[in-house]
Amino acid sequence: MIVSDTQRRELIEKALEARGYSYSPYSHFRVGAALLCSDESVYTGCNIENRAYGPTNCAERTAFFKAVSEGKREFAAIAITGGEDGTVWCYPCGVCRQVMAEFCAPDAFEIICARSEEEYRIYTLAELLPEMF
Ligand code: THU
Repeated sequence: MIVSDTQRRELIEKALEARGYSYSPYSHFRVGAALLCSDESVYTGCNIENRAYGPTNCAERTAFFKAVSEGKREFAAIAITGGEDGTVWCYPCGVCRQVMAEFCAPDAFEIICARSEEEYRIYTLAELLPEMF
């Protein structure tokens, strides 16, 4: 699926909104993600931390697990926004990249790292997870 500029901006907008729901009392690093499925539906996610640290779930995996748990299996793009404000570039962690590898085409799936609707960088999964398992 070809992702349009309008869809990218809408995804970023939804990721920024999802960041507002971040539960991050330990790191104070707020992350929001919005995942575009091939059927054009969108699932959002935020990071959800835990006092035991280990059970923490990243925003990207929250979005993926919501979508997969509702029967979605094909994905076109994910927008990621993170940090206390819009000043940092937030890239997916290794675990989230591996989860993406389970469901997404390495050369087609778009990972949109955004600071705002206007300022974003697009990567393929193959670029962020070369020589994947
Ligand atoms: N985090 C994400 O949600 N996604 C990323 O891509 C990087 C890290 C979260 C996990 C944790 O709640 C906080 O950011 C600090 O690591």
